[in-house]
Amino acid sequence: TDYSITVDPTATGPKIDKTMYGVFFEDINRAADGGLYAELVQNRSFEYSTDDNRSYTPLTAWTVSGTAQVVNDSGRLNGRNRDYLSLGAGSSVTNAGYNTGIAVQDGKTYDFSVWARGDAGSSLTVTLQDSGGPLATARRIAVKKDGWARYEASFAAGRTSTTGRLTVAADAATSLDMVSLFPRDTYRHEPNGLRKDLAEKVAALHPGFVRFPGGCLVNTGSMQDYSEASGWQRKRSYQWKDTVGPVETRATNADFWGYNQSYGLGYYEYFRFAEDVGAMPLPVVPALVTGCGQDTAVADDALLERHIQDTLDLVEFANGPVTSEWGRKRAAMGHPEPFHLTHIEVGNEENLPNEFFARFRQFRAAVQAKYPYVQVISNSGPDDAGPVFDTAWKLNRAAKVDMVDEHYYNSPRWFLQNNDRYDSYDRSGPKVFLGEYASQGNAFRNGLAEAAYMTGLERNADVVKLASYAPLFANEDYVQWSPDMVWFNNHASWGSADYEVQKLFMTNVGDRVVPSTATGTPGLNGPVTGAVGLSTWNTGAAYDDVSVTAADGRTLLSDDFSGDASQWTHTGTGSWTVQGGRYVQTDDTAENTMVQAGDVHWHDYDLHVKATKTSGR
Ligand code: AHR
Repeated sequence: TDYSITVDPTATGPKIDKTMYGVFFEDINRAADGGLYAELVQNRSFEYSTDDNRSYTPLTAWTVSGTAQVVNDSGRLNGRNRDYLSLGAGSSVTNAGYNTGIAVQDGKTYDFSVWARGDAGSSLTVTLQDSGGPLATARRIAVKKDGWARYEASFAAGRTSTTGRLTVAADAATSLDMVSLFPRDTYRHEPNGLRKDLAEKVAALHPGFVRFPGGCLVNTGSMQDYSEASGWQRKRSYQWKDTVGPVETRATNADFWGYNQSYGLGYYEYFRFAEDVGAMPLPVVPALVTGCGQDTAVADDALLERHIQDTLDLVEFANGPVTSEWGRKRAAMGHPEPFHLTHIEVGNEENLPNEFFARFRQFRAAVQAKYPYVQVISNSGPDDAGPVFDTAWKLNRAAKVDMVDEHYYNSPRWFLQNNDRYDSYDRSGPKVFLGEYASQGNAFRNGLAEAAYMTGLERNADVVKLASYAPLFANEDYVQWSPDMVWFNNHASWGSADYEVQKLFMTNVGDRVVPSTATGTPGLNGPVTGAVGLSTWNTGAAYDDVSVTAADGRTLLSDDFSGDASQWTHTGTGSWTVQGGRYVQTDDTAENTMVQAGDVHWHDYDLHVKATKTSGR
């Protein structure tokens, strides 16, 4: 078939903003700890808890030789860092890092630090080794005073290894907290910095904005603070004040995605990263309506007031003069200059549009009264179609919202068929922030479908003002969500085909659309094999009658779980069982996925997946 494209260079289309394409960073798939945050020690402050993940203990990732116990008492380092390790005389602890271990490179320097409380005159010996022997010369640290103090040492790696271990041994009884090892060679050599290869992959995109920190991470869990009055609650929504200041005072939290988040990568680091890569920072704050299956509207005026004040304080933290309360804290962290925050998003995919809007309007009114130059972005609910989406859009229009965040994850075929989605959007209504989208898969065809779709975004650049693929990162050994743009383990990273497409568009943002017309639509053909995954989210989640049918009606997979489930392969860390003809998750982790390979063909890719949920998520 012949296809033709006609371009009219004399006609002018919409202007394309330099900020049009950006990235969305969420701490999912261990994107932060064990990922972008360069810390090499896992569970450095012994705060892992069964609240984070049923399989965790305060000694997860550590092994003890001799005597050691994790203590939670008034002798702690500070009130927000509850646990510490009490190590017996002549004993040691060894950390296993992430993935296969601590990765070091021959010739590079690694900075160790620890908070320790021992008897003045005693000493710690710190070693970095793998099964082949030492990776660097051991360091001896003299304990200089009786109370808590921070000690440092550095290692020059004499060998490359991806299976390193860090051991701290004490000659006398000593308490330890915040045991840390960083590569000196972080992105831009910043302290408490970011892993260089991952940060460079983002920088190479030249993103126009960085949306952070989530996603479901933001508006799930309790909206309470971390305090004695709240019972030192874990499983809190992401609250930015928890994440700034000295790292040893940042109370860790249970990540919605089933693990512990140290908050070593916090709001200061996000702002700094956005600045470093030349992007506009775009933080998301919770609106006191939980989402992502939790779907509760929190009715507590005092708490709402506090969160609104936190949002105003966030603008002051980002932009305020060093004489202001929060500007001073930013300066104390090393950045007296402002971060030039101009956009804030309130909420993420709320399933209760009326309740969300009642709260959104209050956030927006407060921000606009104090900072009229800050644009407050709203959203359109969890789905891109259906009643919540329709109601949310009606409310957004009625409230004359500046910009609405839409999210969708669909088949490549959907992306090819919906290139014209924004052609008919109301030009006088709110602008669109396509904050999360991806076609289901990381293959070349996915990148191709997204590239085709992005031409539709660009053609409508007068309506679609911002767009970001999601999620950004996945550690290959801790996956809750796939596909993802950039994959990594403890020593390597690689971009997907989708990453290359994003890079192509982001590094070639035009000034203005040149109108064009095309004849014909190329067809899709060619066989590929595929797999179907079923993910569950919490204990007791149960599914029955899973089926996948192709566009032409053929059944590709069907399982009522009445037989055995041996045809399914289990991935992730969760466990499951088949009970009473249902697939049931038996532990509380968000990483529970089982996959069945099938013979899916390209032209069948418009798949219809059905599963009956009998309980849970
Ligand atoms: O990108 C992964 C998740 O998808 C986000 O947390 C959420 O906003 C969406 O449902």
